[in-house]
Amino acid sequence: MLSRIGEQPLGAVLPSVRRRIDSHFEQYPNGHVVHGRAVVASDVKLSGNDYLAIGNDPRILRRQLDALAERSDVIFMSGVYTQYLGGQLRLENEYAAWLGAEAAVLCQSGFAANEGIMQATTGPETPAYIDMFAHASVWQGAAVTDAQAYVFRHNDAEHLRHQIAKHGPGIVAVEAIYSTIGDFCPLHDILAVCEETGSMLVVDESHAVGVIGAQGEGLVSHLGLAARVPFRVFSLSKALVGRGGVVVGSARFAEYFRYESTPSIFSSAVFPNEVARFEATLAVVREERHRRARVSGLSERLRTGLLQRGYDVSCSESQIIPLIAGPEREAARLRDALETNGVIGSVFCAPATPRNRSLVRLCVHNGLDDADIDHILEVCSKIRDQVRPDQWPASRAGRSAASSTGNVGMASSTRGNANF
Ligand SMILES: Cc1ncc(COP(=O)(O)O)c(C=O)c1O
Repeated sequence: MLSRIGEQPLGAVLPSVRRRIDSHFEQYPNGHVVHGRAVVASDVKLSGNDYLAIGNDPRILRRQLDALAERSDVIFMSGVYTQYLGGQLRLENEYAAWLGAEAAVLCQSGFAANEGIMQATTGPETPAYIDMFAHASVWQGAAVTDAQAYVFRHNDAEHLRHQIAKHGPGIVAVEAIYSTIGDFCPLHDILAVCEETGSMLVVDESHAVGVIGAQGEGLVSHLGLAARVPFRVFSLSKALVGRGGVVVGSARFAEYFRYESTPSIFSSAVFPNEVARFEATLAVVREERHRRARVSGLSERLRTGLLQRGYDVSCSESQIIPLIAGPEREAARLRDALETNGVIGSVFCAPATPRNRSLVRLCVHNGLDDADIDHILEVCSKIRDQVRPDQWPASRAGRSAASSTGNVGMASSTRGNANF
């Protein structure tokens, strides 16, 4: 089937476009590496971002269905025109109160929120400093303004300081919990550099809201840094189980952002039924602390069990647990071995990871129980000789670092390998 894709003549095809398409099919003749087998009901699934397991919560679905049935207020237009309709402003105020901020703006996706904030803040006079593991949408936003964008080593405040000393103050972009390797940003250290150098910090809380903090308010608020971090961004498609994004900042910035960020202006707004869904979701997320506690407990059990079985997942500090197999073919082999035994993760490869650090990401969530964790660990014991975690990059880097400095773990070992 795949070999036939694209055979239909489409008129003239530019050779440069054809080459790009052909090279994709040469790389993935049997389909893209991210796809494994079809998922069945008995599988233990760790591939989604519904960390609190509320995506199908009847209270949330009911509110959305009721809003759909009302059918009032729906205008299919850019949010520039519709923002004051359908409860959007009320929802934005609820997000702001939740996060201890002055204002929040609803965006169409986390991607649009990140792209928008970078586009609305960086430019020829304002460079961007981006952690090497930050999301592609941040780079995209800086690229559209022709800002100079500088990478800094993952979670390395000293390297950030060095880069800013060289190129001047700017916008610094980090993630609270990194989406591929599951470690935390050292926010105190990064913020100190921003404050010393007069730079402004953007924290992407996509994988932290809902999960971190007594009411799921994310890392910045949980650490008491809300008054010092000028901008926060998050996707609503993770623990908040919808389709949207949010930008958080001062009231003055929020008003500016609504009319100056290109995704806000040139793309249609979130619909009222989605706004109603988000409102219902936020209430569940804030109130049901037991869900967060369980995710944290299960994550800890899985991480500890994997470490005991020779899988170096020491980079992870959260519900995101990556099995970093190295080259794509190794990640695919690992994925197949897990799937054969009923465990479903998701393959991440370039451009989402460095090319030699493809991985299978396991996302722990509240829908799992102890028996599921036992099953995953049994499977990992069973397939260990087949997938050889002792040969993976973190283990190898860990062994050589341990022999010289005693330092083990991916977050530290990648610093030496990055391309700058
Ligand atoms: C850290 C981070 N930021 C932003 C996004 C984009 O969010 P969305 O899927 O809502 O566009 C994602 C999702 O891939 C993410 O992991």
